[in-house]
Amino acid sequence: MTDTRTLLNPALGFYIEELETTEDILIPKNPLDRVIGQEHAVKMAKLAVRQRRHLLLVGYPGVGKSMIAQAMAFLLPESKEEIWIVDNPKSPERPFVETRIGGEADRGRDIGEIVQPDKIPPEAAIKLGFKCKNCGALSSTLKIRCEICGEEKVGYDDWKAASPFRDLFETEMFNSSKKQSKINKIVPYIKRVNDKQEVTVYEQIDTDPAKPSVRVLNQNALEKLRKIEKNRPSKVLVPLKRKTFLQATGASETELLGDVKHDPYGNHPELGSPPYTRVVPGIVHEAHEGVLYIDELPQLGYLQTFLLTAMQDKKFGISGRNPQSSGSSVRVDSVPCDFIFVGACNIMDLKFILSPLRSRIQGNGYEVLLNSTIPDTPESRAKIAQFVSQEVVADGRIPHVTREAVQELIEEAKRRAQIIDSKNNALTLRLRDLGGVIRMAGDLTLEVESPLIERKQMKQAIKLCLPVEEQIKKEFGSFEKALEKELPLAQQTLHKSNYPENYQNQSLYG
Ligand SMILES: Nc1ncnc2c1ncn2[C@@H]1O[C@H](COP(=O)(O)OP(=O)(O)OP(=O)(O)O)[C@@H](O)[C@H]1O
Ligand SMILES: [Mg+2]
Repeated sequence: MTDTRTLLNPALGFYIEELETTEDILIPKNPLDRVIGQEHAVKMAKLAVRQRRHLLLVGYPGVGKSMIAQAMAFLLPESKEEIWIVDNPKSPERPFVETRIGGEADRGRDIGEIVQPDKIPPEAAIKLGFKCKNCGALSSTLKIRCEICGEEKVGYDDWKAASPFRDLFETEMFNSSKKQSKINKIVPYIKRVNDKQEVTVYEQIDTDPAKPSVRVLNQNALEKLRKIEKNRPSKVLVPLKRKTFLQATGASETELLGDVKHDPYGNHPELGSPPYTRVVPGIVHEAHEGVLYIDELPQLGYLQTFLLTAMQDKKFGISGRNPQSSGSSVRVDSVPCDFIFVGACNIMDLKFILSPLRSRIQGNGYEVLLNSTIPDTPESRAKIAQFVSQEVVADGRIPHVTREAVQELIEEAKRRAQIIDSKNNALTLRLRDLGGVIRMAGDLTLEVESPLIERKQMKQAIKLCLPVEEQIKKEFGSFEKALEKELPLAQQTLHKSNYPENYQNQSLYG
């Protein structure tokens, strides 16, 4: 069993002869180390994450572009900033944007001073449950009895009703994203200073018995808190807890850049919903601090211009994008969108990427061509075995693969490198397709109820997964011949003339 045996570690290298089945292979934790045969791209991706640079990945379908982009997002630290839209009472159609570090949870938590319970007035310490009323000893509020005399501590039971400051703390706790089942106890303490009453509020923040502590809020601090919590109408636009990988392939303008929703009642004071509530983020904003991935980049068309502005300014305003909508009069300026951009496209479409966008990437990032094959070496063969193991685990339903079956697949990888990429002594890296073969072999194995994918099923799968172009070639001898048979005579010349350019895989299988 694998759990008692040391697994073959791809980072240290191994030979395919060393494995019995693909279960013997250790799958790397870092998703970038699961990318096979793209060492250069992986190196640049790691650099891009560290230095927050953009990346353009160019290569054939199924060689790992999306995989690399996702892995980059996985390596990024968790988001730190939350984006809020706040009502602007003077001009509701120009709501404010606010970035809050650490999200709402810490709003106002840095106000006041943290002290030990022996630094506060004794009555307050008793009421908060720190001090024993009987012997005066101090202990954590988590201890119900005094540690010295054993007397039950008093606590302060009617603290809820007693404080005029309750609401302040309630809003604060309500807004807190930290798990907190109860509101901290607070005790107001009134002191006379030259005929004037001065209020200090003591808050019990005793969660660690080793460090009993109290937050002290004097008049000044209370006013500050009051200001923050004044319940300015606002809403979270981009929450703190969010994905760091956002895909915008085929996104529409509003999806990419955000929008302000229509309200049929406009700004009617009772019926209408206030403009700030109708602001919707775009993918560029949701990708703030994360990775924004766009596959088939040229298909973005004119939106590329907006994208490059967003990349450059790291901010992009949100406005209603439909001129007929009541949202079109609303605008929020400078909404943060500081993302790492990863674009992907195939070689053929490279020329359709706007040159200013290319120049942004070149100026602040890297352009990388992905490999379509790797030389057929023992190391490369081991990598294919690693890939097979990963695919089995990722699929979750199919059994592991014997060494002989992996070797069979490697021969297919070699054959494909030759016919698709005209490379001798190489293995294909069009791994999505190869993954399809593995899954097919897995399904065939499940049918015969065998515990492992054996050579036989792999061979069968390879046959069944033959690309349709190859099937045609086998059947008809060549593509042209197949076409001739299919079309009525009159159309043949017409089709023949535009067929070779139109058919993108023609040169690959022709
Ligand atoms: N280099 C690779 N290493 C390991 N697995 C790979 C690699 N390339 C592709 N795969 C496998 O194929 C799947 C598809 O790859 P991916 O989506 O990254 O391809 P892509 O280059 O983005 O293709 P497309 O251009 O069609 O979007 C991956 O989820 C993975 O299972
Ligand atoms: Mg992809």
